[in-house]
Amino acid sequence: MSEQFFKLGFSNLDKELSAVPLKTKGQIPTWLNGTLFRNGPAKFTANDNSSWHTHWFDGLAMLHKFSFYEGNVLYSNRYLRSNAYYSTLENGQFNIGFGSKGGTKIKNANNTNINVTILDDRFVALAESPAIIEFNPVNLETVEVFNFDDSLGGQLTTAHPHYDLQTKRYINFTTEFGQAHQYHLYSVAAHRRKRELIASVPTDRPAYMHSFANTENYAIITEFPLVIDPRDMGNEHKALIENFTWKPDQGTLFRVVRKSDGVILKSFEAEAFFSFHHVNAFEINGGLILDICALEDDRTVNHLQVSNLKGETGEPIFVQLRRYTVKFNSQNVSYEVLSPESIDLPTIHYSRYSGRSYRYMYGISTNRHHYENYPNQLVKADVQKGTTTIWRQDGCYPGEALFVQRPNATNEDDGVILSVIMDGHNSHSFLLVLDAQTFEELGRADVVNHIPFGFHGMFTGEQYM
Ligand SMILES: [Fe+2]
Repeated sequence: MSEQFFKLGFSNLDKELSAVPLKTKGQIPTWLNGTLFRNGPAKFTANDNSSWHTHWFDGLAMLHKFSFYEGNVLYSNRYLRSNAYYSTLENGQFNIGFGSKGGTKIKNANNTNINVTILDDRFVALAESPAIIEFNPVNLETVEVFNFDDSLGGQLTTAHPHYDLQTKRYINFTTEFGQAHQYHLYSVAAHRRKRELIASVPTDRPAYMHSFANTENYAIITEFPLVIDPRDMGNEHKALIENFTWKPDQGTLFRVVRKSDGVILKSFEAEAFFSFHHVNAFEINGGLILDICALEDDRTVNHLQVSNLKGETGEPIFVQLRRYTVKFNSQNVSYEVLSPESIDLPTIHYSRYSGRSYRYMYGISTNRHHYENYPNQLVKADVQKGTTTIWRQDGCYPGEALFVQRPNATNEDDGVILSVIMDGHNSHSFLLVLDAQTFEELGRADVVNHIPFGFHGMFTGEQYM
């Protein structure tokens, strides 16, 4: 075990900045114009650093913004003013949430700290409760709770909606517990807030799922055997994850829905595995390919308590990049391994290759020869050739690697990778710009403070200044 320079990434960031110019090194490409928005937890403990205890997923949401113009970078950050934010600061403890214990449960908690997207032309922050919060893309101020204009039910959802490249609609699902449990798969047009139901998929083993897969014609809900007992959901003292039970003998089911008419195909079954993130999926003759960052079981979920992550002894967690092949004429599903590296927070050239045959994926990874409790390198995997390229700097810990295409590019990897890196040696973060083809550094922009480890974000070519 090394010296654990990553721990700063789980420390509070209290300072809020507005459009601060960053000092750059190297060359930030002048064609890179637009805005990177990122979301993630930024407050994990009380200010005296002692009394609160939280799961990583329950830290208070902070939005970050990097504005790029002509090789310059400006940085802003702001806490989301959610009901959970005010309640936590007032009470001096976290609300019971995804995995945090010991606090109180508040109604309609909306600490939406996982992802960012645009719905009905509004910028919104997302989590796994159906609550969504709109924010102002210019100053990152919290606007209001975003409500859909319909009555679709559900107590859980994913923070990973797909943008369907064919129909130009957003696709996601909710999980509704009731007399009969159902996953409601829906789509919503880009400039609307009325969802349209594609299909309600019945289940007798409602599972915890963080993402799903979308191809040209099918949506695939991968139902892991991490099963919730819905009778516990109303328990005031239980965190969400405490309702889950790992039942590996039930296997993992691929629930496939044909989007054009909502027909639910038969279930396809693989041996039990768990995952937070699907990478991509696409159709082949007579079946489907699903690339998934897979875990052997559900142990990681509990491991992500901040106290564990900051601990001296970590249990190595290996996230395996697997390719599952579903054949429509066979019940059973098998997989092959696409990379020797552990990879998670996967990204692709989404706007061109989502749901389609593709070659490159990017992710964060823990070096096999320098194990730490937090990923310490970026990887690019060629899923067709099986080769993996690594970017690593000692004492540096990366966030999600987002691909931005060079204007008029034709090659899949012609563009840059943007990743917020926490430099544990120098106690601050920087925005790294890699050439996506060579995976070599083009430049970086230094942030004065550290940026706590976050989850997901988005890049848009628009300026919001
Ligand atoms: Fe995620």
